Amino acid sequence: MKNPNTICVLFVSLLCLSSYSNRQALAYNDDDDGLKQCLIRHSQNHTAIYTPDHSSFVSVLQYPIKNTRFNSSDTPKPFYVITPREEPEVQAVILCAAELNLQVRIRSGGHDYEGLSYTTAAEKRVADQNPFLVLDLINFNNVAVDTVKKTAWVGSGATVGELYYRISEKSKTLGFPAGVCHSIGVGGHFSGGGYGMMLRKHGLSADHVVDARLVDAKGRVLDRKSMGEDLFWAIRGGGGNTFGVVLSWKVKLVDVPETVTTFSIVRTPDQNATKIVHKWQSIATKLPQELFIRIIAIGQNSQNPVQAIFNSLYLGPADTLLKILQHSFPELGATRKDLEEKTWIESILTIDGFPNGTHPKALLGTIVNNGKPYYFKGKSDFVKNPIPLEGLEGVWDFLKENSSGLLIFSPYGGIMDKISESATPFPHRAGNLYKIQYVMSWSKAGKEAYESHMSWTRRLFQYYTPFVSKNPRQAYVNYRDLDIGTNNLVNSTYDRQSKNWGVKYYQNNFERLVRVKTKVDPHNFFRNEQSIPPLSYIVN
Ligand code: FDA
Repeated sequence: MKNPNTICVLFVSLLCLSSYSNRQALAYNDDDDGLKQCLIRHSQNHTAIYTPDHSSFVSVLQYPIKNTRFNSSDTPKPFYVITPREEPEVQAVILCAAELNLQVRIRSGGHDYEGLSYTTAAEKRVADQNPFLVLDLINFNNVAVDTVKKTAWVGSGATVGELYYRISEKSKTLGFPAGVCHSIGVGGHFSGGGYGMMLRKHGLSADHVVDARLVDAKGRVLDRKSMGEDLFWAIRGGGGNTFGVVLSWKVKLVDVPETVTTFSIVRTPDQNATKIVHKWQSIATKLPQELFIRIIAIGQNSQNPVQAIFNSLYLGPADTLLKILQHSFPELGATRKDLEEKTWIESILTIDGFPNGTHPKALLGTIVNNGKPYYFKGKSDFVKNPIPLEGLEGVWDFLKENSSGLLIFSPYGGIMDKISESATPFPHRAGNLYKIQYVMSWSKAGKEAYESHMSWTRRLFQYYTPFVSKNPRQAYVNYRDLDIGTNNLVNSTYDRQSKNWGVKYYQNNFERLVRVKTKVDPHNFFRNEQSIPPLSYIVN
């Protein structure tokens, strides 16, 4: 049996902890011609440009790539990777890319599930005819915390781990609701919503953004006041690489108690996992909003059967939590020994898979895959009614078939029921019991391994059809999935072939996002396979 406290050595930690090293600002390299001249003309600064013939190009391009699926010789590569340090340099990159007809891929933490921050899904041949550059914001990683006003300005290139650590340096009773894995980049994460273990109490990261600085398609730097409320609404969940380059975000911090409690309790099918998960479905949304109990279900291997790991954060002391569990969820069989009291920052480390006693500075590290291949495919779903016992049994059958399959069920309710569907572009609020994240990972290269693992994921997704949201079948943009449809890969037009991926991510907010896009970027300068199209790019 796996030690429950190391459950994050699953998907999250496979990536987050495969090894970590201090993030280092990328060194300047003096290189290219036309683009370089253009950048100097627009910003007066010497911006670091890496071209494929430069010795550092590969390392600069690859350092944050988490998914080996997008790191092969067939993967379309950018013509340039650019790592600006100052706002005018970013402005210059946008103006020069427009002048030289280069597409821009914005990268903050590089965690995009489909690699869209550094490559394209178009075939290499097509991609080579539509050159793109990677605008890497790693140097925009400043975090300035104001404990009196309970706010912070955080650069898009910072990781959520850096944000958590900088807050904890200054206060034991302030925190921020964002993702579980410390290496996620703030830029992409906030652009798609961003949630973690405080979702039920505090909602999404995007719900706490109160200002932002953005470079628009005209190369102007805008803040909340100058961009206006429509664009400010759109960038808080409407997906990255669509409305502009978000340089930094001002966020409202949240109060956290001095003592919080975590637990990870493993149950197998022989230990009544099916019935316990079944019960969890109907109580998890009704528990006090300080309590978040997610389930991580992992595939069977030669040592372990299928496991359902009940992994939790409670914003309060263990004795109170025990009473809640004994009253509302006795089936879980939690005892006082299962519950660990700690500070909020320690809970961040525990849930992320670090061993007890790890110094919070570890959150400043990022991940490198150390040359070990790690291929993965993710998908998502929303469940509105409890799945019957037989339905859950069928899920275990899939997990018996493949040891590297993983499902994460994240409960909703709490404050998520109280925030309107249109408050931000993220529409998945009241009426959802939980979100499912599907993750399949593998390490073997080659077509056969690729096809069998992708096929398992798609078959399981198909199996879930009767049990999840319908018309549209909803999905979470931060778990990007190109299976649900893409823009036209050459000119980014959106048509019936797109299979309405937009309404799956954004439901009724999609139309408003299209209106904002049409106003701020009518020529579709910022675009990728799933960026919001302006009206003129929607064809019937
Ligand atoms: P990346 O840099 O790849 O960007 C993602 C997208 O946003 C791309 O389209 C990119 O062009 C665009 N973009 C990036 N920076 C931008 C900027 N400054 N301005 C405009 N556009 C920008 N999610 C979650 O909600 N909770 C969680 O707990 C986790 N956990 C998790 C663990 C692991 C291991 C992975 C790989 C992913 C997650 N995620 C997650 C999903 C994560 O939130 C999602 O992949 C984010 O988009 C990642 O943001 P990055 O900046 O790292 O990605």
